[in-house]
Amino acid sequence: MDPHVLPLLRCPRCATTGAFEAARGLVCGRCGLAVDGARGVYDLLDVAGRGEPAATTAEQRFMEGELVARVYERLWRPTFVRMLAGRGAGAAVGGFAGEMFIHKAALSLDDRAGPWLDLSCGPGLFTRAIAAGAPGALVVGLDISRAMLEVAAGRVRGYTNVVLVRADAHQLPFGDDTFEGLNNAGAIHAYDDAEQCFREIWRVLRPGGLYVGSTFAEAPTLGGRLAARVAGIRRYDPGELRAQLSRLGFAEYEDLRLGGAFVFRARKP
Ligand SMILES: C[S@@+](CC[C@H](N)C(=O)[O-])C[C@H]1O[C@@H](n2cnc3c(N)ncnc32)[C@H](O)[C@@H]1O
Repeated sequence: MDPHVLPLLRCPRCATTGAFEAARGLVCGRCGLAVDGARGVYDLLDVAGRGEPAATTAEQRFMEGELVARVYERLWRPTFVRMLAGRGAGAAVGGFAGEMFIHKAALSLDDRAGPWLDLSCGPGLFTRAIAAGAPGALVVGLDISRAMLEVAAGRVRGYTNVVLVRADAHQLPFGDDTFEGLNNAGAIHAYDDAEQCFREIWRVLRPGGLYVGSTFAEAPTLGGRLAARVAGIRRYDPGELRAQLSRLGFAEYEDLRLGGAFVFRARKP
């Protein structure tokens, strides 16, 4: 485990930041809370005493299944992106390589020292790419799905700068003003209360920190619209997202439309 993560973590029980010590998992020096770190994932959700979260959409139930977690990167993600954003969206940027190029540039990965948070990292597609692009910086991958994180743990083994954490985007287990940049690909449509997640994103970003995400706008085909409805995927209007983020204090909102999807960036002043 990269020890640089210890000063950043906030204990979900006593809300103290920087009190965790590494000891077969983590132990909070303030309240004694022990956090399991077995299988390469620090489970800060389990210990919050809230039990297993109930998935509220069909999409999230899939995200918590082992099979989907295993086939997510190769099969599930490209199929859904094509269905919900249109064939042209992936082709326009050359598939994931192009998507990652946009995210890296939007995060200013080469110009900033980190640390970075890949929020709702799934099996770690972006986490690994960020870790490879910023080898000297700490990269935290966070997700609520244990299945996704277990797959991610197997895939980040070669990256010494990655730490995986299980937690809820509605209540991030980090101190205020922690991250230089936060990547949040394909996830805001899945949150029960996106506004609460945006407040948390704001809180954990440093002043000047960048928030980069992607989500779905209106699906270009009838099939895509139906799939989104069945899966419980909320679609965003970029103009509404801009207004929502600026109400919360974010500045310099920009977005790039890719078919029925878009990538956005905003800055905490
Ligand atoms: C469509 S996947 C995107 C994964 C990855 N970012 C990517 O683009 O490949 C959405 C992810 O959001 C996660 N997620 C959903 N609700 C969450 C929450 N409340 N807190 C943290 N992660 C959540 C899911 O478990 C899932 O892994």
